[in-house]
Amino acid sequence: MMTANESRLAGLKKKIESREARVGIVGMGYVGLPLALLYSSQRFKVTGFDIEPRKVATLNSGGSYIVRILPSEIREAQKAGFRATADYSEIAQMDAVIICVPTPLDEYHEPDLSFITETVKSIAPWLHENQLIVLESTTYPGTTEEVVVPLLEAGNPRGLKTSRAADQPGFYVAFSPEREDPGNETVARHDIPKVMGGCSPEATQLAAALYGSIFHRVVPVSSPAVAEMTKLLENIYRCVNIALVNELKQLCMKMGIDIHEVIDAAKTKPFGFQAFYPGPGLGGHCIPIDPFYLSWKAQQFDFRTRFIELAGEINTAMPHFVIEQIANGLNEHSKALKGSKVLVLGVAYKRDIDDLRESPSLTIIEMLRDKGALVSYNDPYFPIVGHGRHYDLNMTNTPLDNLGQYDAVVIVTDHSDYDYKAIVEQSQLVVDTRNATKGIDSAKIVRC
Ligand SMILES: NC(=O)c1ccc[n+]([C@@H]2O[C@H](COP(=O)([O-])OP(=O)(O)OC[C@H]3O[C@@H](n4cnc5c(N)ncnc54)[C@H](O)[C@@H]3O)[C@@H](O)[C@H]2O)c1
Repeated sequence: MMTANESRLAGLKKKIESREARVGIVGMGYVGLPLALLYSSQRFKVTGFDIEPRKVATLNSGGSYIVRILPSEIREAQKAGFRATADYSEIAQMDAVIICVPTPLDEYHEPDLSFITETVKSIAPWLHENQLIVLESTTYPGTTEEVVVPLLEAGNPRGLKTSRAADQPGFYVAFSPEREDPGNETVARHDIPKVMGGCSPEATQLAAALYGSIFHRVVPVSSPAVAEMTKLLENIYRCVNIALVNELKQLCMKMGIDIHEVIDAAKTKPFGFQAFYPGPGLGGHCIPIDPFYLSWKAQQFDFRTRFIELAGEINTAMPHFVIEQIANGLNEHSKALKGSKVLVLGVAYKRDIDDLRESPSLTIIEMLRDKGALVSYNDPYFPIVGHGRHYDLNMTNTPLDNLGQYDAVVIVTDHSDYDYKAIVEQSQLVVDTRNATKGIDSAKIVRC
């Protein structure tokens, strides 16, 4: 016979499987909103929580603030019961809550968990027994057990505890990392296997049921820390390999070898090699940031993560390398950076997306300005670039015409909308940091 707790667990699982479970998603950003739409498309009634009133109002009026999410998708989700709110008391009505809030670095380059702690403190008063809470925000191993669980337990007025065994009543907690790859049209989100680790086998089972209802494959692991570390391994792997090709690119340039030709040849090997590409520096919310969550945590164990530090050093030096190449290119035309008109193409951190967080373009623009260049930018995704946590540019998008007026045009983001042949034809000098001009033969191009 099932214990009372086992039957509650079975009840929640059944509710999830039958789509009757109410799903709350906290953080309606690049991760949370698409996830909300995915659950809505599978007939779950989803409530999106966000502290930004503008986002809540836009979603509730059937609009979208993310370019690749169409308002029609929001309206479709609304038909399945999707709505947004800033009112945390509605957490009480949710069977499962998924947290997708930012995890940036602070000014000292250390983890800033304030978004997670604020969210968890807001959820705690509304917790109820048998509720599943899942953290998706990328973070260091230990966050779920050491930060989230204590705050949930301390903040709920009924003194509920995290269930850690089949016979222990309480709420369930798990961690499941997000593997979204913005702009990647080749893999559907539901085809990306979903890793999850709970604070108890029951929490893992529930998280597996929750995600198994929308993802084709779930990968349960033994603890939240394993799941947290899995995400960091994936991102550190990319960060280190990108640093490797960025370093080799610089050597290849000195040796007169085209690194892209080398990578294209190497990737024909059917095993043991995965292609990574050099570029102007790292961008986005993940690769430039997440590895440092681990190096910070490693200090607690008196351990130095040398690969992460070296990769960080090489990758953060790349915008300086780009500036050097622009200066060299101008020099060939007997011009100095100071006073030159420079057009930067692309401010998004990667091709065809509307996200400029940590974009190397922002650093390159700031460095060019510091050197006295007169900088403009063009990016079809950004009519203006104001200020953010690490930049203050206040610029407006420049139309892509009269390119001959610029002393240099610098391709920092290789959006597919650009006609690179026409750009090269019309420009005096093109500095290409992305191999976007591959196949175009012109003495005007500096490839770096
Ligand atoms: N963007 C990606 O491609 C990606 C990929 C994998 C993992 N991640 C990770 O996912 C997490 C979320 O990233 P994102 O890109 O969606 O961030 P985002 O900035 O796009 O969205 C976060 C949202 O959370 C909201 N928010 C902040 N504090 C809140 C609070 N206390 N209560 C309710 N809402 C709050 C913000 O208003 C914002 O809408 C991060 O940890 C990130 O590292 C992101």
